[in-house]
Amino acid sequence: MKKLTLIIATALMLGACQNKAQSETAAGATDQVVADSLKTTLVAYFSASEAHITAQVAKTLAEATDADLFEIVPEQIYTPEDLDWKNEQSRSTIEMKDSTARPAVVSKVENMAQYNTIYVGFPIWWYTAPRIINTFLEQYDLTGKTIIPFATSGGSDMGKSGEDLKKASAPNATWILPGKVLNGNPPVDSLKVWVETLK
Ligand SMILES: Cc1cc2nc3c(=O)[nH]c(=O)nc-3n(C[C@H](O)[C@H](O)[C@H](O)COP(=O)(O)O)c2cc1C
Repeated sequence: MKKLTLIIATALMLGACQNKAQSETAAGATDQVVADSLKTTLVAYFSASEAHITAQVAKTLAEATDADLFEIVPEQIYTPEDLDWKNEQSRSTIEMKDSTARPAVVSKVENMAQYNTIYVGFPIWWYTAPRIINTFLEQYDLTGKTIIPFATSGGSDMGKSGEDLKKASAPNATWILPGKVLNGNPPVDSLKVWVETLK
């Protein structure tokens, strides 16, 4: 019996040592990521169509602003059928008719505290922002952060999308409104000109 107790105690001790070594490695790796990314600007975007139009402009904007880039990814990816705005029963139509809809996202910006300016990009859906942008914003305490919305669209302007987001999901942030529709895949230089006008 004594022997068995000794074996179990030794196994537990070895396990504890191994776990400690593993967590030290994990902590070291996390420190490395933070040390590599000291940027204070974030470009977060959602892009749903197969053409990924908002994704393209978000990447260029991150380059123009020397920002980190974060994609807002839905837990359930939108299919072309989901995006059929002509269908009253499609997922996007149903979500956009319900201002309380909050489609789930797969991940979170873990180091949000490090950013003071956040550009938030999305396709215009039914003249405003997709509900998943509300989901994104509501995950964080954005008090004191500056948020600048941008979008792509089939021709609509920003409308009240920024005001809607501010009111419903991030009233304590400082919003620069109305933001801007950035259609036509604008080059880095023209985005830098726009960003300058915000200062
Ligand atoms: C459900 C849905 C609703 C849309 N509503 C509008 C709209 O109100 N006004 C507009 O100009 N474009 C509208 N569009 C077009 C998108 O805003 C446009 O194609 C956008 O650039 C797509 O960006 P993405 O490729 O990043 O998803 C809508 C598209 C979808 C799928």
